[in-house]
Amino acid sequence: MVRLNKYLADCGVGSRRECDRLIADGVVKVNGKVATLGAVVSDSDHVTVNDKRVGDKQKNYYIMLHKPKGCVTTVKDDLGRKTVMDLIDIKARLYPVGRLDYDTEGLLILTNDGDLANRLTHPRNEVNKTYIARISGVLAEKERIQLEKGVLIDGVKTAPARVKILKQDQHHTRCEVTIHEGRNRQVKKMFEAVGKEVEFLKRVAVGDLRLGGLKRGEYRFLNEYEIDYLKNV
Ligand code: URA
Repeated sequence: MVRLNKYLADCGVGSRRECDRLIADGVVKVNGKVATLGAVVSDSDHVTVNDKRVGDKQKNYYIMLHKPKGCVTTVKDDLGRKTVMDLIDIKARLYPVGRLDYDTEGLLILTNDGDLANRLTHPRNEVNKTYIARISGVLAEKERIQLEKGVLIDGVKTAPARVKILKQDQHHTRCEVTIHEGRNRQVKKMFEAVGKEVEFLKRVAVGDLRLGGLKRGEYRFLNEYEIDYLKNV
């Protein structure tokens, strides 16, 4: 961590005293919020002066987005649908780490650190992903166990998973599902395999990173501990 005036001075914005003046004038923002005198920043912070980024041009961004329904995870969509990039106010080329379907919401990591994105999505390094799923009808105990042990989707058995029933009545079952593979539409297809339809799906965690109180459509920069965690997971 370094004091903001020193960070700005090191980036060539001006002397520390001039930088303090800019901070006092309210034109310096850290992670989108107007900075105050005496603030400290780290390399993972996004610092702007008059809304222009300062700092190392090669700097990497690590972002957690609460993807809402109704947008695609790709950077560009041939059908002209809204993409997750429309929700993010950053010019850098970001890669989504894994995918969420158009109608799935929840935690999505985006980064311009291509190495990390590739590593995290490689089948060998897949981390646990936890979802809340609402299913139509009652999920029988036999079906729950079947899902945990593995079911056939597209002719290939899924790896062991965890399926916990959170709430159930005669019309719906609400479950927490943890998988570590990342196959296409995996959770929906797993339930299809036991004759059940997923009506609502939300990813609430990727490894130890949790969505927490982040609102739909909002994003935040990961802190240095979270970035470290992802790099070593
Ligand atoms: N499984 C699904 O079926 N859809 C998603 O978006 C993510 C996991």
